[in-house]
Amino acid sequence: MLGLMGAMEDEVRLIRADLDDVEELDGPCELLRGRLDGTPVVLAKCGIGKVNAALAASAMVQAGATRIVFTGVAGAVAPGLGIGDVVVGNRFQQHDADDTAFGNPIGTVPGEPPYWEPDPVLFALVLDVLRALEEPRGHQVVAGPIVSGDQFIAQAEKVAWLRATFGASAVEMEGAALAQAANRLGVPFAVVRILSDSADGDAVADFPAFLNNAAHRGRDLAHALARQHRLTA
Ligand code: ADE
Repeated sequence: MLGLMGAMEDEVRLIRADLDDVEELDGPCELLRGRLDGTPVVLAKCGIGKVNAALAASAMVQAGATRIVFTGVAGAVAPGLGIGDVVVGNRFQQHDADDTAFGNPIGTVPGEPPYWEPDPVLFALVLDVLRALEEPRGHQVVAGPIVSGDQFIAQAEKVAWLRATFGASAVEMEGAALAQAANRLGVPFAVVRILSDSADGDAVADFPAFLNNAAHRGRDLAHALARQHRLTA
């Protein structure tokens, strides 16, 4: 069953509105089972941050999800990317994990791999679907590293550090936690981020102004994935 995850109300509200046969499930966050274009799905609104994403991933697998796709917004980090462009994560790290005292590189969680990668089949499918949807609308769709941490980044110096240290394309607050949890749970995952801001001094204003746009594009992606999922599951 296809699992769809978002962190905030704007990342799930239009998908929720399009679900049929909705059933509310008990869990650590809002968790719904239903049908999207006839395809059974589990939809989670996990809440903001790494712990919430990991909890939701676990609950979604318990609810029957066999693939999890996160859709939401992020701050742009790589040069050449701007508000409205889309990053599909091809590598995930937690920029706020710091075990350097023991000689490990910054961003490393002790006992975990140095970074996580998405499921290659799901990643390729999501990238294809997004290119078909977004490129005709004039948005770039790129594969790139995503870094996550329990910090809203709104400082150009921090963006420069994320770029230099991790080669990141985008920064957000859940993707690498979903990656860690999905790896432990043995469930394929992918993360899609529409860039809402440049994680600089304008981010606090740009981010909320963009959420409605992202909500509509997230809904389009969810429908396209549901249709694909019915063909390929
Ligand atoms: N999500 C969207 N924009 C973000 C930012 N600048 N920092 C962290 N998470 C974000």
